[in-house]
Amino acid sequence: MKALVLSGGKGTRLRPLTFTLAKQLIPVANKPILGYVLDQVREAGITETGVIIAAETGHHVKEYVRDGSGWGMRIEYILQEPLGLAHAVKQARPFLGDSPFVMCLGDNLQGKGISHLVRRFQDDRLDCLILLKEVPDPQRFGIAVLDSAGQVTRLLEKPKEPPTNLAVVGTYVFSPKVHQAVDRIRPSWRNELEITDAIQEMIGMGFRVAAEVLDSWWLDTGKKDDILTANQIVLDEYVKRDIRGTVEGSTVEGRVSICEGASIKGSRVRGPCVIGRGASVESSFIGPYTSIGDSATVVNSAVENSILMTGASVKDVERMEDSLLGKNARISKNGRSRVVRANVGDFSDIEV
Ligand code: TTP
Repeated sequence: MKALVLSGGKGTRLRPLTFTLAKQLIPVANKPILGYVLDQVREAGITETGVIIAAETGHHVKEYVRDGSGWGMRIEYILQEPLGLAHAVKQARPFLGDSPFVMCLGDNLQGKGISHLVRRFQDDRLDCLILLKEVPDPQRFGIAVLDSAGQVTRLLEKPKEPPTNLAVVGTYVFSPKVHQAVDRIRPSWRNELEITDAIQEMIGMGFRVAAEVLDSWWLDTGKKDDILTANQIVLDEYVKRDIRGTVEGSTVEGRVSICEGASIKGSRVRGPCVIGRGASVESSFIGPYTSIGDSATVVNSAVENSILMTGASVKDVERMEDSLLGKNARISKNGRSRVVRANVGDFSDIEV
């Protein structure tokens, strides 16, 4: 069994962050989403992984994943123009050969991992196993229809009147027969080779396509609020109290991880939250669900439910909530209450 992890794409909905960063590298609880995905691949016992990258952001992905030894796996990079998920499979064919494979989206996280899917795929001798999740707004997703035996009969992409509320989660297992289906499909109206069309084709060709309904959380981190939700869930699930940095004249409540070299002075920190290496918090309140990146600083401010990436800084801000600050971004108060002074990149979004 091999893995194919999709880390290409355009990431238009996460601009401006994705002008300089692959969206799969946006950190939640101070670790890139892609890192959690690779953890899950390795937990399933897979040691050969193809990583799809795009021309603009691929070098960032390579810098983070390197040769894969950090995860105990071998990595092959596959350059792809973002022409759809099934196009990525086509592009990866020389790497995949005749092996079955797990396909994961590098910006999707789900709480169950993939080991159980690999086991079921092998035990039931399937050609395709997809993961589904009941959602309240099925119009926004690819939707599956199942028969009474749990076999998938139909897949629909963002239907106006969805026949079920079962959304297709970005984790799939395929036998090499998927390549026959991919060769037969044509680009959709958005000019992409859709994986839902390839799976529908597999059903039409009489291959065994089954589904498993996920009874845990699923996060598709396409937009800012999705990233903040992912940050909340990951902080809730994974962060333990672990204080390595220096804490002076401060209170630290609950599950708070303070990394080496971080300094907390005259402040109150209430978990769950993480404070990265070399970060500095002074005369401030850090509220629940906040991730402060390495070398970031917060001075004389209150920050809650937010992500500050590496080197970001917040100074004299009475209250900052639900915010995502990119690397080295700075927010400060200028002392003149009605004046806003800004030096903000394209597609930034600021509420004052
Ligand atoms: P999407 O979120 O569907 O697409 P996108 O990354 O282009 O984002 P946006 O809609 O904001 O422009 O992609 C899901 C995942 O698959 C994501 O991790 C990027 C990756 N991907 C590829 O690697 N190749 C592709 O051709 C596409 C469409 C996506």
